[in-house]
Amino acid sequence: MINQKIKAVILVAGPQKGTRFRPLSLEVPKPLFPVAGYPLVEHHISACKKVEDIDEIILLGFYQLDDQISRFVDDMKRKYEINLRYLQEYQPLGTAGGLYHFRDQIIRADASAIIVIHADIFCILPLKEMIQLYKDKNQTSENGCHIVLGTHSNKVQPLAQSQHGNMVISKTNEVSHYVEKPESYVSGVINCGVYIFHPTIKQALASIYENNQRSAREEEHDNSSYNPELMFIEKHLFSHIAGSGQLFCHMLSNSFWGSMKSAGSAIFANKQYLSSYRNSDLQLELAKNGEGKPEILGDVFIHPTAVVDPTAKLGPNVSIGSHCIVGAGARVKESIILDGAELRENCCLLHCIIGWRCLVGAWSRIEGTPQEPNPNYPYALVNNESLFHSDGKLIPSVTVLGCNVVIPREVIVLNSIVLPHKELNGSHKNQIIL
Ligand code: GDD
Repeated sequence: MINQKIKAVILVAGPQKGTRFRPLSLEVPKPLFPVAGYPLVEHHISACKKVEDIDEIILLGFYQLDDQISRFVDDMKRKYEINLRYLQEYQPLGTAGGLYHFRDQIIRADASAIIVIHADIFCILPLKEMIQLYKDKNQTSENGCHIVLGTHSNKVQPLAQSQHGNMVISKTNEVSHYVEKPESYVSGVINCGVYIFHPTIKQALASIYENNQRSAREEEHDNSSYNPELMFIEKHLFSHIAGSGQLFCHMLSNSFWGSMKSAGSAIFANKQYLSSYRNSDLQLELAKNGEGKPEILGDVFIHPTAVVDPTAKLGPNVSIGSHCIVGAGARVKESIILDGAELRENCCLLHCIIGWRCLVGAWSRIEGTPQEPNPNYPYALVNNESLFHSDGKLIPSVTVLGCNVVIPREVIVLNSIVLPHKELNGSHKNQIIL
């Protein structure tokens, strides 16, 4: 059965999403934001490329197909020698609507399985293991079984449950009960946003569409904006098929997992992917200490076109983008420095994201507050809460400079977000600088 074609679909959403990721998502679509040296979605593409029988990868979203996306698609096709294309939804259709709308292209007659991945998650995707479970379960089933990736969450972190799909798993790995983002605790296993679907999903999506149409008629939606094609894998599919012997869970083991909703989670994702390079074919991507080279602590990625002064000290968990310049005596730790940024001599950058083509003056200090999961709680997840307290004050978080920001020499910017193209003239603390 399985030596036919496997398609992978990566759900990349569109410009109205990723609001907690602003101002960075104003410059690039969030899935193209670089973590550990590569766009987040490239990590998923490279994992899909390793799947045996992969036929094509589809990026599905509602971004306009502009130069940035076209160039990315072309680059990926060349680099990975794989069929890859972007399919654009005419409006946001939810996590399942695009799969239905483009069903004839995605779920073709020769398809044996469809991998679906949420673009904004970060983890070492266990696709091989998930496909094995998919094969096992479908050997004995007549209806077509689907697989969802699950991970544990920590009970002391209630938001982890209420921000994710909760799944009750039986001894046979079946998802016996599924609740999307419940208000109270349902289960300590959450949906990771990675699925292997059986081609029978095509019929399941068609009946969701018909149900949506029927209920629209019955409820007499005089609301002309109602679109029966707006559908969700979680609410319309999983909640209904859980317990029917069609949905099974593969539990993630030996990998970090999180979803990249905020700048703080990008710093955490950067750290996790960098550490995964150590035992993989990407080992060579990690910077090494050596004569005439900057001092490296822990895991650091330096783009080959970046120029780093040998007296700079970088790491742990730092990524330096293309054409960056890092001056003498600069210190960078737990940060992402985006393409074309210049860090002048003796500046100090801790827990921050420095936007494209920013200039950080000599002896300046840019510092944020880390947002890592609490290491004392097993399975704790990175905190993706809103940027503000209920009283409207900014929650201390990583410092973010939008693109083309200029920081003068000898200033301090602490726990702040600086919007693109700003030229600061003094120090700032706990502010959004417009
Ligand atoms: N193509 C397309 N069209 N993609 C979409 C759309 C859409 O209209 N809406 C969302 N997506 C993509 C997003 O890019 C993201 O990768 C994924 O679908 C999830 O979308 P969100 O709406 O951000 O959901 P979430 O992250 O809060 O929750 C979902 O993911 C969690 C795992 O990260 C749910 O599936 C949860 O159950 C799950 O735990």
